[in-house]
Amino acid sequence: MQNSEIVLIGGSGKTGGRIAARLEQLGLSARKTSRSTTPAFDWEDRSTWRGALTGATSAYVAFQPDLAVSWAAEAIDALSKIAKECGLQHIVLLSGRGEEGAQRSEEALRAAGIDYTILRASWFCQNFSEGAFLEPLLGGRLQLPADDVREPFIDAGDIADAAVAALTDIRHRNKIYELTGPRALTFREAVAEIAAASGRSIEYEQVSMTDFKDGLAAAGMPESVIALLEELFGEVLDGRNSQVMGGVRDILGRPASDFSQYVRETAATGLWSA
Ligand SMILES: NC(=O)c1ccc[n+]([C@@H]2O[C@H](COP(=O)([O-])OP(=O)(O)OC[C@H]3O[C@@H](n4cnc5c(N)ncnc54)[C@H](OP(=O)(O)O)[C@@H]3O)[C@@H](O)[C@H]2O)c1
Repeated sequence: MQNSEIVLIGGSGKTGGRIAARLEQLGLSARKTSRSTTPAFDWEDRSTWRGALTGATSAYVAFQPDLAVSWAAEAIDALSKIAKECGLQHIVLLSGRGEEGAQRSEEALRAAGIDYTILRASWFCQNFSEGAFLEPLLGGRLQLPADDVREPFIDAGDIADAAVAALTDIRHRNKIYELTGPRALTFREAVAEIAAASGRSIEYEQVSMTDFKDGLAAAGMPESVIALLEELFGEVLDGRNSQVMGGVRDILGRPASDFSQYVRETAATGLWSA
């Protein structure tokens, strides 16, 4: 890994931030990039891409807002080609499970003629502490259009460990890893664990898609984000991704960490008790 520079697209995010910290601990050179860095990288402004990639030998790519959006595959195709022109040798793509847009994006990367590692991740545990579910949890009630479908939530720390392995060990090139937690829970069970660990009463309520969308619109959520959530909850969350997969063990040689561990550690910070 000498004379290499890793660029982290989305480097301040839930996964990118953890990857940056791990690479720094290893003494490896990593550069975070997003809209707020110099040089900036904006998925919605292609004129920024070349400047952000120049000088790097490999990249970690966390697309925004989600590979499920219609323009994602075309963006990943264009990014992979520019990366190749800039001399990058390897791209690690954070992907999603069971999403048509994610699959098309993976195909675009694989066809680009650059080494790849695809990390297909289940829903992150951190959605409950660093994402959209935090505010409702703090308010005492999470309302989602999800019934008893089970999701094997994965810890973003495991994704970061997998990404670091992929970025630093050539044996992980041109491979796809399906990363999930070791246990599939319903959203109701997940909220119950969080409530118990934080010593608070937090309810989970299943709502209709219409009520869900109306609630988001009333809270000022942009139309594009509402459409994305409708696709994720209405189509992707139908049980197709409930199966626990062995990708964490395959790439890291250890089991994935359990949702309970995430809940214990996060509750201990006092985040959910506020
Ligand atoms: N959450 C899940 O459960 C889940 C599951 C599977 C896959 N994924 C995938 O994970 C990816 C997100 O990764 P993450 O959760 O690590 O990131 P994140 O925490 O959502 O955000 C990362 C950073 O992206 C930057 N960003 C936002 N809009 C941008 C834009 N237009 N151009 C460039 N940067 C932008 C922001 O920094 P600035 O404000 O500085 O730009 C933000 O700090 C998505 O592709 C999603 O599909 C998520």
